[in-house]
Amino acid sequence: MVGLWIAYTFFRTGKTDEVVFSIGAGTEEIRFVKKLIEEFETKHPAIKVVLNVLPAPTDQQHHYYITTLGAKNKDIDVMRIDTIWIAEFASAGWLESLGKYIDKEDRASFIPVTEKTNVFQDNLYAIPWNANVGLLYYRKDLLEKYNMHPPNTWEELIEICTKISASESIYGYLWQGKQYEGLVCNFVEFIGSNNGGIIDDAGRIIVDAEQNKIALNLMRDLIWEYRISPQNTYSELAEESSRHLFQQGKGLFLRNWTYVWELCQKDPSMKGKVGVSQLPKFSDGKPASVYGGWHLAINAYSKKKERAWQLINFLTSYETQKELAIDLSWLPSRKALYKDPELLEKLPFLPVVESALQDVQIRPNVPYYQWISDVLQKHVNKALSNQTSSEEALSSIKAKLEGIKRDFTEN
Ligand code: GLC
Repeated sequence: MVGLWIAYTFFRTGKTDEVVFSIGAGTEEIRFVKKLIEEFETKHPAIKVVLNVLPAPTDQQHHYYITTLGAKNKDIDVMRIDTIWIAEFASAGWLESLGKYIDKEDRASFIPVTEKTNVFQDNLYAIPWNANVGLLYYRKDLLEKYNMHPPNTWEELIEICTKISASESIYGYLWQGKQYEGLVCNFVEFIGSNNGGIIDDAGRIIVDAEQNKIALNLMRDLIWEYRISPQNTYSELAEESSRHLFQQGKGLFLRNWTYVWELCQKDPSMKGKVGVSQLPKFSDGKPASVYGGWHLAINAYSKKKERAWQLINFLTSYETQKELAIDLSWLPSRKALYKDPELLEKLPFLPVVESALQDVQIRPNVPYYQWISDVLQKHVNKALSNQTSSEEALSSIKAKLEGIKRDFTEN
């Protein structure tokens, strides 16, 4: 009904209604999103979309939303939000509940993890736009040259790196160790690959478990003991800095998200040289990719919720997600796209991702996640820079998390 009313108003007055879409992403991504917006505006001539472009790093965007939404800003209508903010923003009353906009069948067409990460207190607050999982990129050409295969275990990875990286004068393994959210993703993957975790299903904080200590020791040893990861991993390496090193031909393996695939295909010096597999595991563990991803939500203070929904509906449609997967290698969030023949050809690692998604690691889905993350970032990073032992770091994290949990659950 409201849609008809908007169309009628447009035809009667010729006036468009503005919808503000807030998004932080890389330059290439924004360029492509602008093209999608043009497609949307052609289909919906009564709506004009204004982009509010934010910096790409998740922590900086989070800061922006805390201040703007905290001040009950009405000017933003649609927001692209990280998977880890949903519970926090929803509990603060900043997100419109979306259950009434989406029908049951459409909701069920998204990957199942959506029901865990995008739901808070039984309400759906965001529609997944692009899913994300941590993957292992490798130099296929170099592994072939040395007659080696992508590693299944961390032990194998170390062995391969030790063999190849010295003779090729390149780094062995590039990953994200700087003090920011990306480090938390890597930490969750390392500990998960040794059957460890941060909080168990009963809500107990288990971060100081022995498996986690072993995993954190490995993270540190990759830098200081085996020396197959750069010395500045803990001070400099984030998604983009590690990707640049890899694309410059300076690394054998890289842990990163799916967007790196298309950038490597478009880079003449990398095309055909890169393979993708699941992340390695400890010998008794399992590969443990973390679930990342960006979702579309409506600002609870928006005055244009129905138009905002029309935009979300368009951007998360099968066709639009397919375009995004083809052009930016953004991982789709609709299940059916994982069987799309054209996509399977374009993104040969889709089956790897599909199986990683079955058992993906989720960062704690609680309103106080950001507090947890700050503690993890600080203490894990301290262990990586050798300022504390893994044991000390994990017991400090445990004590701090107990305090945070108490503060949030007792009030
Ligand atoms: C990616 C993921 C996001 C994660 C971030 C960490 O953007 O999609 O979920 O928080 O990386 O840097």
